[in-house]
Amino acid sequence: MVPSHLRKVRSFVRRPGRITKAQQRALTTLLPRWGIPYGESKIDLDEVFGRRAPRVLDIGFGDGEALLTSAVNHPSIDYLGVEVHEPGIGHLLMLIEKAGLDNIRIIGRDVVDVIDHMIEDRAFDAVNVFFPDPWPKKRHHKRRLVQPEFVAALARILVDGGLFHVATDWADYAEHTREVLARCSDFTPVAAEELASDPLAFRPPTKFERRGLRLDHVIDEQYYIVRRRLQPRS
Ligand SMILES: C[S@@+](CC[C@H](N)C(=O)[O-])C[C@H]1O[C@@H](n2cnc3c(N)ncnc32)[C@H](O)[C@@H]1O
Repeated sequence: MVPSHLRKVRSFVRRPGRITKAQQRALTTLLPRWGIPYGESKIDLDEVFGRRAPRVLDIGFGDGEALLTSAVNHPSIDYLGVEVHEPGIGHLLMLIEKAGLDNIRIIGRDVVDVIDHMIEDRAFDAVNVFFPDPWPKKRHHKRRLVQPEFVAALARILVDGGLFHVATDWADYAEHTREVLARCSDFTPVAAEELASDPLAFRPPTKFERRGLRLDHVIDEQYYIVRRRLQPRS
């Protein structure tokens, strides 16, 4: 298997998107406070957050509004958001400053690199991938974030019993995710009733979810996929 850091196919395309002056200013002035610079050595998240609390990794948070809602609602959980879209990072930074939060940190980089180089084993209690880019054309399926090697990397960074939570508005992506997970012996399905009261499984509505609903995409229980990381066999 090709190590994921050597993967040439990226799950995103960098578009010279418009960034507002306020977002740009946030990147300059607020990122040093809430950002973690990308580096090629593992980070100590207890040190970063200044405490040992349950931790959630939010991959591809977009405009960050849903991540902010999670962090406001669950001050006893720490959230690491990883995103490559600079306007989204700037937007989230402004929201964090306004809310005065200390339980979110951001890394602006491809999450595949971040996991490979910066994240210790068993660092997270949950990993969220909400409405990943669907890459609907067959020839682009290789760009989908959820791939066997990616899921194996998530198994490494999740605690035993940790949650992997995917939501999508694309039936084909949901099916693809289920197939990838079915081939990975590290994860097992979770009963919905186990999740109802679990703050680590909290999922506020996201921007792309609302967009999907406007476009009449079906989004129901079929499109929410949650798996629990199994204890490795000794
Ligand atoms: C369709 S948007 C969904 C955003 C948000 N989760 C929502 O539901 O509104 C997917 C996001 O994932 C980000 N993304 C895609 N591949 C990524 C990667 N490898 N590392 C970090 N972010 C990524 C994109 O930049 C984009 O903002």
